[in-house]
Amino acid sequence: MERYIIRGGKSLQGEVEIGGAKNAALPILAAAIMADETVLLENLPNVSDVNVLLQVITEIGATVERIDEHTVKINGSTISDLTVDNDQIRKIRASYYLLGALVGKYNEAHVALPGGCDIGSRAIDQHIKGLKALGTNVKIEHGMLSAKTAHLRGNHIYLDVVSVGATINIMLAAVNANGNTILENAAKEPHIVDVANMLNSMGANIRGAGTDVIRIKGVPKLHGTEYSIIPDQIEAGTFMMAAAVTHGDVLIHNVIPKHLEAITAKLNEMDCRVIEYDDAVRVIGAEHLRSTHVKTLPYPGFPTDMQPQISVALALANGTSIVTESIFESRFRYIDEIVRMGANVRMLDNTAVITGVPAFTGAEVAAPDLRAGAALVIAGLAAQGYTVIDDIVYIQRGYEEFDKKLQQLGAEISKVETDRDIEKFKLKVVS
Ligand code: UD1
Repeated sequence: MERYIIRGGKSLQGEVEIGGAKNAALPILAAAIMADETVLLENLPNVSDVNVLLQVITEIGATVERIDEHTVKINGSTISDLTVDNDQIRKIRASYYLLGALVGKYNEAHVALPGGCDIGSRAIDQHIKGLKALGTNVKIEHGMLSAKTAHLRGNHIYLDVVSVGATINIMLAAVNANGNTILENAAKEPHIVDVANMLNSMGANIRGAGTDVIRIKGVPKLHGTEYSIIPDQIEAGTFMMAAAVTHGDVLIHNVIPKHLEAITAKLNEMDCRVIEYDDAVRVIGAEHLRSTHVKTLPYPGFPTDMQPQISVALALANGTSIVTESIFESRFRYIDEIVRMGANVRMLDNTAVITGVPAFTGAEVAAPDLRAGAALVIAGLAAQGYTVIDDIVYIQRGYEEFDKKLQQLGAEISKVETDRDIEKFKLKVVS
């Protein structure tokens, strides 16, 4: 099993390049199979969730040609199977996007119920509500989610919960429906706008993405396109937090600063400096971080996918911070791990009361999920001594070359497998 070993205490300095957004790439891959012509996708992150989805798309018969590690050509005209089920797809959340895409294109699909990070109950009732409103018969049987209809028809749909997944899934299913769909209380995340832009470049007619009312006029079919995926807001935010915690100075390239506003605002409150350029941000960490309060909310609020990373930073800030998680109920499973590194945190339901400590000490910890895993890496970078992080498969689901990018910034981190590798790392960094 691969692990990370880190010797903490190095201030991160230099420049780093952010990749394409995983949470945009996944639905965009699903959208790509809706055309019977070739779709060229650029800026695709080379992370395991994306590679699992590409594999599954191939298994149902689509043609996938990898041009290079970030570019792929997809042709959905050869799809021969409307059932999506393998061991891998059950582990990723975005499997449900194939339901929306296949039903949208073929009026029928059967998809293994989604897995994903264990961060809460992760209901899918709003996806089902939306698909039913579009005229499909939806069933859950033997672990499969099935949807079937003679014709999809547009409808007026109100989401009871602001859901990224349901918003995108309903968009995918509605683009080819007869008539108009109005989706109210839609999620507004940047990747929703990206998926809508991509579908529009395939001939769809979607307006209002990025606001809470999305209007979709059904079109008979979609055509091929060439599309470049937006930069990953959460990967960027993670490097911003790593710079802050290590009192570093990092220029982060290939970002859309507007998408980072909530994170930038919090870093400013913590006394860090954030300088925005057209497609880059520079983060200069404070000598002493200051405490602040955070509540996770749908975009443009503070992203739940950045909650573990900022909590680690606040655990090293002067004063007491209150972090409230309002999206997923099980997103604090990393707290026990950082407490083992010396953090002072008291949990009250979905709220962490964090009293900053001057320093962490390294320990052996395990990543409980993707973003919590990244947060533990940040904790290790700031800790005195060595930190070993187990279960990094979670981190590899969403961060490409995380260790290499951190090394470029001067971090002492390495991917290791055996205890002998750990000893070798220790000898190397000491010498
Ligand atoms: C996506 C992201 C995830 C991010 C989350 C919120 C992907 C692959 N994952 O997850 O990284 O943390 O958005 O920004 O893009 N809910 C319901 N019923 C539903 C759907 C959702 O009650 O049918 C609830 C969820 O339990 C949760 C909230 O709505 O409390 C938000 O979930 P949602 O936005 O759907 O998250 P995901 O799409 O699963």
